[in-house]
Amino acid sequence: MKSRIIGTGSYTPEKVLTNYDLEKIVDTNNDWIVARTGIEERRIAADDELTSDLASRAAERALEMAGVSAEDIDVIVVGTITGDYPWPATACIVQANIGAKKAHAYDVSAACSGFLYALASADDFLVAGRGKRALVIGAEIFSRSCIDWTDRNTCVLFGDGAGAVVLEAQEGDKGVLSSHLHSDGNYVDFLYQPGFGVKHQPSLEGLEAKLPFLKMNGNEVYKFAVRMMTEVSKEALKANGYSSEDVGLFIPHQANLRILEATTKRLKLTDEQSFINVNKYGNTSAATIPIALDEANRGGQIKAGDLVLMAAFGGGFTWGGTLVRW
Ligand code: COA
Repeated sequence: MKSRIIGTGSYTPEKVLTNYDLEKIVDTNNDWIVARTGIEERRIAADDELTSDLASRAAERALEMAGVSAEDIDVIVVGTITGDYPWPATACIVQANIGAKKAHAYDVSAACSGFLYALASADDFLVAGRGKRALVIGAEIFSRSCIDWTDRNTCVLFGDGAGAVVLEAQEGDKGVLSSHLHSDGNYVDFLYQPGFGVKHQPSLEGLEAKLPFLKMNGNEVYKFAVRMMTEVSKEALKANGYSSEDVGLFIPHQANLRILEATTKRLKLTDEQSFINVNKYGNTSAATIPIALDEANRGGQIKAGDLVLMAAFGGGFTWGGTLVRW
């Protein structure tokens, strides 16, 4: 029994924020951003759009492709760190929005690795025989939750969006082959949002200290991301007896072009084997992989029988690699 991806969907907000727009907000320029990150533009959610709205639209598109009704879904797992509320889970709001009446729903908090963590959780559920179909979503609105729009070091990197897949338990050799998840909590403060939670509760002093905004040690994150995405990709290939030449398409977490190029090179994958769309959306955290998967799928870049390798890295630190036979 395997969890097969039978539908993909994505939704990115209409509003485009280009590097030239950012030049008017902070002391930056298009050339710096493109040279350091490969990002040209990103999407920004409308004021009345919630993370659950982005997630629901992506989910509906995935369900439509799968030809499956929301009522046939047994579980909804959303990877997000920018949910509508601290609690309850955004997945519950999605469940109500799309009318997935029989599904139980929960969020997974693993930052930019959230989608692969959510996928592994849903895969375990289906392979254990506890349900037939799952909806797995990655959705984020960083622009309104943790971006400091006066900090040029970080605000140029991120964007909003959502992607989703429908998984179905099927006999045969197609579907998720294996997931490999890792964490190292020694590096929490290399990439995190300090407030407001239990450690730093809401206060005016905390606001003045900018605790609700993302903090990052960019250079260290860069090095870890390349090393860990490379290692976990090799781990996933080795566990299934494959090597880089067998990969049909590599879909890495779209953090930054330089990270993607360095990882692809270390894995000895060709440019044709690697999918890149970070130039259009920036880093949408848990949403990058399912958005990329949907674009590659709809664009005909994944054929039935292809080996699809996905790798992610994010705050925690968390990282993961997943191999799928399409
Ligand atoms: N525009 C113009 N200049 C900028 C800038 C911006 N948006 N952001 C930073 N700078 C400046 C810095 O202030 C610094 O200036 P200084 O030398 O006068 O102090 C200079 O550019 C170099 O900064 P540095 O941080 O050393 O640049 P870098 O080459 O390391 O690139 C990142 C910075 C953030 C692009 C890079 O570290 C990175 O990609 N890190 C990983 C980030 C990431 O992907 N996070 C999410 C992972 S899930």
